[in-house]
Amino acid sequence: MAQREHFPSDIATILLGAGAFVNIRSGTAYETVSLEEFLERPHLDSKSVLSSVKIPLWELEKGRNSGVDRKLLFETYRAAPRAHGNALAYVNAAFLAELSSCGSSGGAVLNKCLLAFGAYGKKHAIRAREVEKLLTGRVLTARVLYEAINLVKATVVPEEGTGSEAYRSSVAVGFLFEFLSPLCTLSSKDAEENYEEGGHVKCPRMLSSSRQVFQLHIDYRPVGEPIVTSGAALQASGEAVYADDIPSPENCLHGSFVYSTKPLARVRGIQVNPKSQSNWISGLINYKDIPKGGKNVGSMTIFGSEPLFADDFTQCAGDRLAFLVAGTQKEADVASRLAIVNYDLENLEAPILTVEDAVARSSFFQVPPFLYPKEVGDFSKGMAEADHQIFSAEVKIDSQYYFYMESQTALAVPDEDNCMVVYSSSQCPEYVHATIAQCIGVPEHNVRVITRRVGGGFGGKAIKSMPVATACALAAHVLRQPVRIYVNRKTDMIMAGGRHPMKITYSVGFKSTGKITALKLDILVDAGIYTDISPVIPSNFMAVLRKYDWGALSFDIKVCKTNTVSRSAMRGPGEVQGSYVAEAIIENIASTLSVNADCVRKINLHTHDSLMLFHPDSSGEVPEYTLSLIWEKLAQSSEYSQRREMVSEFNKCNVWKKRGLSCVPIVHELIVRPAPGRVSILRDGSIVVEVGGIELGQGLWTKVKQMTAFALGLIKCDALEVDLLEKVRIIQADTLSLIQGGFTAGSTTSESSCEAVRLCCEILVERLRPLKEKLKTEMGSVQWEMLIQQAHMQVVNLSTSSYSGPDFSSNRYLTYGAAVSEVEVNLLTGGTTILRSDILYDCGRSLNPAVDLGQIEGAYVQGIGYFMLEEYTRNSDGLVTSDGTWTYKIPTVDTIPKQFNVEILSSGNHKNRVLSSKACGEPPLLLASSVHCATRAAVRAAREQLQSWGYHDEYGPTFNLEVPAVMPTVKEQCGLDNVETYMKWKMSTHRVEQ
Ligand code: MOS
Repeated sequence: MAQREHFPSDIATILLGAGAFVNIRSGTAYETVSLEEFLERPHLDSKSVLSSVKIPLWELEKGRNSGVDRKLLFETYRAAPRAHGNALAYVNAAFLAELSSCGSSGGAVLNKCLLAFGAYGKKHAIRAREVEKLLTGRVLTARVLYEAINLVKATVVPEEGTGSEAYRSSVAVGFLFEFLSPLCTLSSKDAEENYEEGGHVKCPRMLSSSRQVFQLHIDYRPVGEPIVTSGAALQASGEAVYADDIPSPENCLHGSFVYSTKPLARVRGIQVNPKSQSNWISGLINYKDIPKGGKNVGSMTIFGSEPLFADDFTQCAGDRLAFLVAGTQKEADVASRLAIVNYDLENLEAPILTVEDAVARSSFFQVPPFLYPKEVGDFSKGMAEADHQIFSAEVKIDSQYYFYMESQTALAVPDEDNCMVVYSSSQCPEYVHATIAQCIGVPEHNVRVITRRVGGGFGGKAIKSMPVATACALAAHVLRQPVRIYVNRKTDMIMAGGRHPMKITYSVGFKSTGKITALKLDILVDAGIYTDISPVIPSNFMAVLRKYDWGALSFDIKVCKTNTVSRSAMRGPGEVQGSYVAEAIIENIASTLSVNADCVRKINLHTHDSLMLFHPDSSGEVPEYTLSLIWEKLAQSSEYSQRREMVSEFNKCNVWKKRGLSCVPIVHELIVRPAPGRVSILRDGSIVVEVGGIELGQGLWTKVKQMTAFALGLIKCDALEVDLLEKVRIIQADTLSLIQGGFTAGSTTSESSCEAVRLCCEILVERLRPLKEKLKTEMGSVQWEMLIQQAHMQVVNLSTSSYSGPDFSSNRYLTYGAAVSEVEVNLLTGGTTILRSDILYDCGRSLNPAVDLGQIEGAYVQGIGYFMLEEYTRNSDGLVTSDGTWTYKIPTVDTIPKQFNVEILSSGNHKNRVLSSKACGEPPLLLASSVHCATRAAVRAAREQLQSWGYHDEYGPTFNLEVPAVMPTVKEQCGLDNVETYMKWKMSTHRVEQ
């Protein structure tokens, strides 16, 4: 692989560093060559085979200068997005050295060394021969080391286009420095840090620990209890049936999307590539196949609809051009990948690919006035009160992919009388339903959409699920055969759109104390080509930005229409960006004033008065404002002050590792939307429940089950509460059985579905009560089964539905939380380790603390992905290039906090919330910016150190750490040549031997 495919192997580098040989066998002939030579050669012909690898036994040379202290060292290095695997290295290295102490100077002499570097963007790993030559036989002094690292920098040079070229070279420098500096007599103090006898062992901490804390409330049992997620065993065992697990009906066909790779072009035609077998393909469906009476519509929202297929013009790379239908999923995928699209770019204006282009050409989506957020106070007046002002600072923030485990999927089955049953993995089957009916031109009662459970949504299975199901339905309608699709990961990543990228320019005024007096923002949102739900982004963004008292707040937000894939809601849509931008502003102020950012945060937290000013519709009563309590409590439980001191002590003692600590608050507005439900009690006393909300893995079914058991339990039969839970089954959503299901989105669907069910149970209990009282008088005790049996005989209606709709004056509330994170940055590689995160989050009265803890942790980790790891890159045409797990790195056990402590704050009762609960599906994701801010604090310490070495100009205290803060980004802000700078400083301030 390393030789033939130029795979950036770790093993090849390690073997090269160990001076390995390979044995090649061709027929009866054997040949032994060094691995170095082998890597240089053209790849083996088909008659030869690499039969073995030989690693020489390295022993200390005996005899010569016997009695002199000698050592053999071998070390390997790797800088990769994930420390322990499943990620290619940016650079790797393996060094072998034999050294002896030099009697006269006390320094070390390198008798022999092998230095191998790999994975950095050359065809194969190399031996740095020049550097080896330079070092061999020399006494290791600062001067020699300095020469060596400069030579490494000139040697380890990636090919152009590799990406992060300067970063890779600088890490190679860091590796050699790390290897040699302990041997080098920089100063007598440094010499003490020399390797221990037998070499040092770098043992990465792999183990993590966690703590989960909550308070148990039993007033509404079994609501409030941490019961196990409904269906957990089914999911764990693989028995659970997701849309794609449904067995294919007879004659079922499989579809695959043909998407555009050009941002703006005329589509002359799509040809099936002769390389794909002609008998594979059953149809190539495009907009021309939409039946009479139907419409080219692929999704619908309250803001309008978007087309299912591009017509003769494609509007973005990733646009749906056609739906190729074949006998199997594999055939469909291969054929669609090979399909040839003829584009014609003649006489077309240039596409709009950036928000700047959109502004220049006034390409915007309208935001309805009722959704446009309101300003606070008088900006000029606030600015006039300020001691300091920052003008036109810029923040850019990019996209994120959903990375649900189950990619988009649907199955459409034609039924009698022009009807269609569609199984869809969707957060909003009601809208899938309506879109399909409109597309194929049938009344809505001809369509039935069924969704049992969704394997992760995060907003990506809302609008973006509609065209997937609609394409299947259209194909099934045209071909009169069942059609299904499981969108392959690459196509899914290209078409998904994901989170909205933004560009923010702001001006802010503040007092010398850090108190902010005025903020003005100009925000450009990149919404892509279709409206989707993008008009809600401004209000979401601004709602969460209001977590601080900005004094006066003024803004202009434009939702830009660009020729890129349409962006859609993603967990905390607009809110994540708003929260982050608030923190970026705070950090900038703190750097300007040279104070701790957390202090600036603290003094700008709302009082209840300012909260009412900034959140007039949702601020609630004084005791409901729990943020100051959270701030204090978390400071204690996370040992914030002690750890601040420890961090600054650590930073004083360590040159190449710096730590940062950061506490970030959130104030998050939630809206409870109407939701339907139905509860039916069967003859044997078992209960079946339907709700509008979809189970996405967020535990909605579990909470609904608990609520049903609680609310029906109020009938107070004997020994009921416990086994009632066992009697409840939640069944799949069926859009003809229960209508008005709406969107499972915005974190509040669990509670609104619970409320709908509670209303149903209330009605049922009312209906059953007279009978129960009668039986009680007659028999003394009443069992549930007997009551229900009697009720069936007495013709009591034991099924009822409801539609819960909080009124518009009380459907909003705020929730609060904070997170403290500690991050360690490796200044040689830019690598970050999250040492610890502590979260405290206000769940009101949690409906199920086990489920909510899972939501909080899960959201937070998804946020870590966004802020630290996930690069959703595109090429110059806007086509997604990070289209698989190979390049797109979500968090793993390697990259989550080593210590992870979560506490649920149980705040008071409230009549306007469902049994006083608060949502937690999305808001905790925002808290992950504490990891980014802690990283920034560590980088700030690194820059202060860099300045102390005499590097004043470029690395000042104010800087912008991009999102995600991947290794190259972090290293760049710490100084790509920090090693060289350090060496220069050392040599100038210490007497060094030449
Ligand atoms: Mo969520 S992004 O509200 O589905």
